[in-house]
Amino acid sequence: MSGSGDPAAVRRLTVSDIARMHADGESLPMLTAYDHPTAQILDEAGIPMLLVGDSLGQVLLGFDSTVRVTMDQMLHHTAAVVRGTKRALVIGDMPFLSYSSPDEAIENAGRFLREAGAQAVKIEGGVRSGRIIEALVRAGVPVMGHIGWTPQSQHGLGGKVRVQGKTREAARSMLADAIAVQDAGAFSIVLELVPEQLAAIITSRLRIPTIGIGAGPHCSGQVQVVTDLLGLGDFSPRHARAYADLRGAIRKAATEWAADVAARRFPGPEQTVRMDDAVLDEALGRTPDDRAAGGARDIAAIPLDRDL
Ligand code: KIV
Repeated sequence: MSGSGDPAAVRRLTVSDIARMHADGESLPMLTAYDHPTAQILDEAGIPMLLVGDSLGQVLLGFDSTVRVTMDQMLHHTAAVVRGTKRALVIGDMPFLSYSSPDEAIENAGRFLREAGAQAVKIEGGVRSGRIIEALVRAGVPVMGHIGWTPQSQHGLGGKVRVQGKTREAARSMLADAIAVQDAGAFSIVLELVPEQLAAIITSRLRIPTIGIGAGPHCSGQVQVVTDLLGLGDFSPRHARAYADLRGAIRKAATEWAADVAARRFPGPEQTVRMDDAVLDEALGRTPDDRAAGGARDIAAIPLDRDL
């Protein structure tokens, strides 16, 4: 509800609302969004957090990894999502090498908030990103952390997408990463591709909400890539569940439309505009007066608009 007194007015959620929902024991749903119409629908559906993930590089722009995504592309899509939403907290994903130092991180996070209108940013990395998160939070930028499988470091993690934290050392280091992100001031943290028991332990040790993707059911919330949820992509990871088949629906719609065009069934009367026939007769010089004066003029002799 808005502070304006109008109980019907919708206001933008803040990280304090997310903290309150978490404290109330609500499970937090988050979806990725990359464009205006999808963001509008997800906002209408009441999804409280929308992440403009750099996954857009793969699922929307056709790159083979997220490391190709630029700041300008992220800002372009984040602004479209912000324009499509009234209530959701919009989080912009800081792309690869856009937060190598605290100064660079503040500069680029500032662009997400000022130019694109996001309310928070997400950055990857645990202990290694603590100093950056701290600087951002001190500068007034709400930060979501991201540990486990961190796609921007795919080359350092061996290239192949795989569940993280399965060895004793890796599990300990992931716990240390989670605590470092929380201590640096992040308002929540994504756990990606983490064994469910480890995700449960991390969740129980943190005050801030964990948002899982491929991290089992014991996280404080869940995030899915929207194209996986909608069945729009040409590949679906094991941790995703499709709730629609938009790929099939779009293919069917396009095929049916093309068949209607081929058979001249499209456009029909509902999609077509007529003009007043009398006006057309005047335009073509075929009114009774025109005929009395010698018959309709040859169409080819009628001057075009640009000549009038
Ligand atoms: O870019 C993205 O979509 C993400 C989510 C998978 C958390 O980082």
